[in-house]
Amino acid sequence: MVRVISSGRLRVDNGPHMQAAVAASFEVILARHRRSSGVARRYLRDFLGQVPDGAGFLDSGALVIGELVANAVVHARVSPGREIAVRLEMVHGHLRIEVHDASNERPGIRRSTGLDDVSGRGLRLVEELSSEWGWGPRPEGIGKIVWALVGPEGGA
Ligand SMILES: Nc1ncnc2c1ncn2[C@@H]1O[C@H](COP(=O)(O)OP(=O)(O)OP(=O)(O)O)[C@@H](O)[C@H]1O
Ligand SMILES: [Mg+2]
Repeated sequence: MVRVISSGRLRVDNGPHMQAAVAASFEVILARHRRSSGVARRYLRDFLGQVPDGAGFLDSGALVIGELVANAVVHARVSPGREIAVRLEMVHGHLRIEVHDASNERPGIRRSTGLDDVSGRGLRLVEELSSEWGWGPRPEGIGKIVWALVGPEGGA
């Protein structure tokens, strides 16, 4: 089942052409707005609620998705109307989180964050909480995909 949100309206597409879609995947379009991290966390919770043992991915997944969406909102400075896409999928027992934005600027971990620095910790958190993360160009258009693989709580 794939759901798409656009301009605040939720559309659930269960049409026959969607039947072949991977059951445990989900996509949503979000505005470049500071509230979108919270919206993404809610969708993650709902998505994991439909996945066997999904609850075990919620704590780390919520932190990771929040940071990745916040980065897309804050750092991917693009024209109005260029929204953020979030894609969730279960892959080999891991939660794959993708956040697509329309900027070609690359994310980069800040290694030298001082104790008093107010920013620069988000991707380090992502690195800590995921088994793997990375980014690459968006195949179907401008911009990029930042992704992370999150394992189950207490798992590898
Ligand atoms: N989606 C993105 N598009 C463009 N640049 C990005 C993106 N995500 C991260 N970056 C770059 O990588 C840097 C490090 O990101 P990180 O999330 O670790 O820190 P931050 O966003 O600056 O601060 P914090 O997350 O602690 O509020 C950012 O300052 C930015 O330059
Ligand atoms: Mg950040």
